[in-house]
Amino acid sequence: MTSPYQPGAAPSPSCPAQAVPPPQEQAPPPGCPAHGAPQHQAPAQPDAHAPVKLYGPDFAADPHRFYRHLRQYGALAPVEIAPDVTAMLVTDYRAALDLLNDDATWSKDSREWMTTVPQDTPVMPMLMWRPNVFYSDGPAHVRYRDVIVDSFKLVEPHELRARVQHAADTLIQRFGARGEADLIADYARLIPLLMFNSLFGLPDSYSERLIAAIGGMLEGNSPEEAAAANEAFTTYIMELVGSKKGQRGPDLTSWFMDHPNALNDEELIHNIILVMGAGNEPLANLIGNALSRMLSDDRYYNTLSGGALTVHDAINEVLWNDPPLTNYSAHFPVRDVFFHGTWVRAGQLVMVSYAAANSQFDTTEALAPGSGSGSHLSWAAGPHACPVKRHALLIATTAIERLTAWLSDIELAVDHSELEWRNGAFHRALAALPARFTPISPDQAGATPWHNSDRSPMSSTRPEPTSTARQPASAH
Ligand code: HEM
Repeated sequence: MTSPYQPGAAPSPSCPAQAVPPPQEQAPPPGCPAHGAPQHQAPAQPDAHAPVKLYGPDFAADPHRFYRHLRQYGALAPVEIAPDVTAMLVTDYRAALDLLNDDATWSKDSREWMTTVPQDTPVMPMLMWRPNVFYSDGPAHVRYRDVIVDSFKLVEPHELRARVQHAADTLIQRFGARGEADLIADYARLIPLLMFNSLFGLPDSYSERLIAAIGGMLEGNSPEEAAAANEAFTTYIMELVGSKKGQRGPDLTSWFMDHPNALNDEELIHNIILVMGAGNEPLANLIGNALSRMLSDDRYYNTLSGGALTVHDAINEVLWNDPPLTNYSAHFPVRDVFFHGTWVRAGQLVMVSYAAANSQFDTTEALAPGSGSGSHLSWAAGPHACPVKRHALLIATTAIERLTAWLSDIELAVDHSELEWRNGAFHRALAALPARFTPISPDQAGATPWHNSDRSPMSSTRPEPTSTARQPASAH
């Protein structure tokens, strides 16, 4: 008789949890269906083989508790990423690297898998196949990826920094006089959209349309609202491509169009959408998560007035501990495979938990002064690793530096423990980040980003802080 835990055994065709032994009993994560009474939901029947839910308030509140629990299964653990959508999650660092670097065994093509799950599942937009860099393998992947990498190489760092400063100043202008802001809704989520609007070559006047469309897709409270936002986004992209067909410019759209790999119209549009989609949420989360650390940790508070840790440290800490994209790298094995102790069926969804893999290490080492961020997995690894991490880092760093330079006494308006995280298996995203600061007023001539003739918004000069220092709040 063969065992499902040994090489050579036929893998079970059904529940992914059947392919792995149930974990030894240790402190379960709250809400784990395999254990006793959860905090938010009453389980019908505790079931040690049930996949662990990676959505809902319990996971959002304390994902690392879930990862510790999942590691008891071995390198892979059975999870549910949405109702009736299961996956195997790689939580082991070595296994994650093996998977990410083996594109002969692991495909990104989700087309077969899509036929096996509810068509209206909320995770479909994150996993649905399209003709773009994300879902392709081998030469097709290289062909798309070259277009993206080569085009981003043409974006000069000093010019990128100036664009971020302009975007930052535009946003700070909107809320600076209020003395308070939600740094997620008012800043972190808007910076990437202003940046993409600019990098893809449309004037600022178009950015509101992009913000409304993407905001509606994320927040759409009804199917009708979501459909309208999707329609608005499609129109935005069609107008973008149409305008650049008429007249090229020094922008990503034009460089994508003229790349020697000659994408056809469908490929061009899907890869522009992919770049905006792939960059938007993780970049917003990187900025938001780093800001939340800086504003709730004395070491960073001190930084704002000349202290110990820098924006770079905050970003590094986020990349190790709260990766903006937390579980992703969706792959499907091209054949049944025995992988790090577990049978995985051909075509089964397997994802990598960057957060769980990173947490195998002692992150204090990563925070040591001068240490690099070399070995966390938050940009993934292998052929599909994030191709623009340098640009993303520069945008996030500049956006945070610009904000904290203008609003030097900025502090959290609530205790850090009251911050809420958005639900979902893929992202580590704050729902809101309420902050307060001494208002900077538009009538303070020369003291604000928008009334200062010496420092035009496109200037790369870092402004001097203009707010008066405030005592740290109890939240610090
Ligand atoms: C300017 C902002 C960004 C852009 C334009 C961008 C773009 C992309 C693109 C095009 C890919 C697909 C690469 C491929 O399949 O070959 C990708 C992958 C990835 N990016 Fe980024 N990205 C950005 C920011 C970020 C940030 C801030 C993070 C988080 C730290 C991140 C993490 C990742 C990861 C983990 C992958 C691999 C995902 C997977 O294979 O499922 N990216 N990114």
